[in-house]
Amino acid sequence: MSTDSEGRLHLAIDGPAAAGKSTVALGVAQRVGLTLVDSGSMYRAVALLSLEDDVGTDDRDALLEIARRVAASFRLELRDGETLRVYLGEREGTEDIRAQEGGRRVSPVSEEPGVRTEMVRLQRCLVEGRDAVVEGRDIGTTVLPDAPLKVFLTASDEERAHRRALEMEEKGIRVDRDTVLREISRRDEIDSSRAVSPLRPAADAVPIDTTEKTAADVVDEIIGMLADKGLIN
Ligand code: DC
Repeated sequence: MSTDSEGRLHLAIDGPAAAGKSTVALGVAQRVGLTLVDSGSMYRAVALLSLEDDVGTDDRDALLEIARRVAASFRLELRDGETLRVYLGEREGTEDIRAQEGGRRVSPVSEEPGVRTEMVRLQRCLVEGRDAVVEGRDIGTTVLPDAPLKVFLTASDEERAHRRALEMEEKGIRVDRDTVLREISRRDEIDSSRAVSPLRPAADAVPIDTTEKTAADVVDEIIGMLADKGLIN
């Protein structure tokens, strides 16, 4: 088996919002038996605590202190092999970190270099000594630049807005598709243009356009790539 420098299989999955990263990462983790790390949930946790503590998105010192608190208490648990639960110490924050108000803050909060440094350290710490799949925006470029397989998922703006709207409707939240499309485009713009670790495929990432594919198709494709590289049997 060929792996990264630590001798571990690390798979990086990056891409813009609603390109299918979470579903695909979960599918690969289940099939191969990898630790699953959702890096976006860490930035969401920082955004949530900053909202609860009434900290402004321009208050660097306070954001850094919150990021350190998150780094010290953050835990992910794959419940029944199906759903990824997020804990901050004893508190379960799975639903709270996805509430809309905090969601609006996550892009400005994740632009803060000090916050990113803490979160990157946390992500590396969670995969150290483990075979893992990590999904996010800068995993292949910054967090795990030596990962033996990096994929970059994309989908058309319309398809991503459609998927995000369906997801929200399943939770009983009624949404206007044009608004969802606008919010996704706005988030892409901020994520792609920030100074530190912008959303960008690594030079050696394999691009996969998921617009016309099911998540199961994409999982099969990635499993095939891992096998072709001799990373799994
Ligand atoms: O994957 P997600 O939608 O839960 O991510 C939420 C936000 O977190 C996203 O808009 C940008 C930020 N993020 C980031 O900056 N870097 C990552 N590796 C993952 C997420």
